[in-house]
Amino acid sequence: MIDNHGRKIDYVRLAVTDKCNLRCFYCMPVDGINFKPKKELLSYEEMIRLVKLLAAEGVSKIRITGGEPFLRKDIMFLLASLSKLEGIETIAITTNGTLTKPYLDDLIQLGINHFNLSIDSIDPKRFKAITRRDSFAQVWECYEAMIQKGLQVKVNCVVMQDQNIEDIIPMVDLGKNDPVSIRFIEEMPFNGQGKSTPKYEWNYIQIIKHIENHYGRIVRLNNPKNSTSINFQIPGFVGTFGVIPAYSRTFCGSCNRIRVTPEGILKTCLYDQGVFNIRHLMRAGASDEELITAVQSAVGHRAKNGFEAERLRDPGNLISESMASIGG
Ligand code: 5AD
Ligand code: SF4
Repeated sequence: MIDNHGRKIDYVRLAVTDKCNLRCFYCMPVDGINFKPKKELLSYEEMIRLVKLLAAEGVSKIRITGGEPFLRKDIMFLLASLSKLEGIETIAITTNGTLTKPYLDDLIQLGINHFNLSIDSIDPKRFKAITRRDSFAQVWECYEAMIQKGLQVKVNCVVMQDQNIEDIIPMVDLGKNDPVSIRFIEEMPFNGQGKSTPKYEWNYIQIIKHIENHYGRIVRLNNPKNSTSINFQIPGFVGTFGVIPAYSRTFCGSCNRIRVTPEGILKTCLYDQGVFNIRHLMRAGASDEELITAVQSAVGHRAKNGFEAERLRDPGNLISESMASIGG
């Protein structure tokens, strides 16, 4: 699958639930969002059918996101099924780490060893202030278990003025001994609130400067192809760190991703309002060929970057959705 800007699409982000047991304030209002009833979510059978079709079109990487994926019932059934599909080389999971640890050994058995763990603070009090839940201890146990089991761990840290600036250096320091990649993400307006005014002082350049000022020397690493992060290492550290210009959107030129929301809406950009609903099409009896043609057509009409995608939204449909309903 090649889009209208010549970018190869080989990566699909599949959000399996909009539910979450945390309430990170940059993602959801304190009371949560209007979670969808189960019948309005893609079923596992529908997801497996979709991924199988996409794999035949060259998709080789799937990321399972949410909400919190481990809140969806029988998630291991889906993961086991996807891990058997021909052409799918990598299955990665983005999780908040509150429920994940007991699944790790089974996940390893399935060959799933890429994890993005959301940890916005390594101070339990600040963690609680950001996530509005007292779950730091479980998350930290999960982090330690992942490292101990030799899994590939990326820690997602959304950088927020007045919230977790004090955490930046201690989190980079995790890389002194742990082979982890800490990724500092610019805050985006996907907070599930009608109006959103995140403070954007902490863009990726600021974050890099802050870290460079502290350590004196940071070494820029070669970026993996299609990477959204700009990566660095502190000399002598085993781990690395990166910044993700999620709001500055500097990486769109090499974007290889499409997204499917828990309801089955196909998004060809994080910032678009959704192109069409795959679940509706499937439940109306579409054939495999019709489904793939619809996806190909969406991919053939992609915005060139996140700014254009945002501009092309309908008037009155400005960004206000929760990240939990998109999948990050
Ligand atoms: N801005 C930036 N990143 C966000 N995430 C969730 N909401 C936002 C937001 N408003 C990130 C979290 C999580 C991932 C799925 O998306 O770090 O790890
Ligand atoms: Fe849950 Fe992730 Fe949203 Fe936090 S950012 S509320 S962990 S879905």
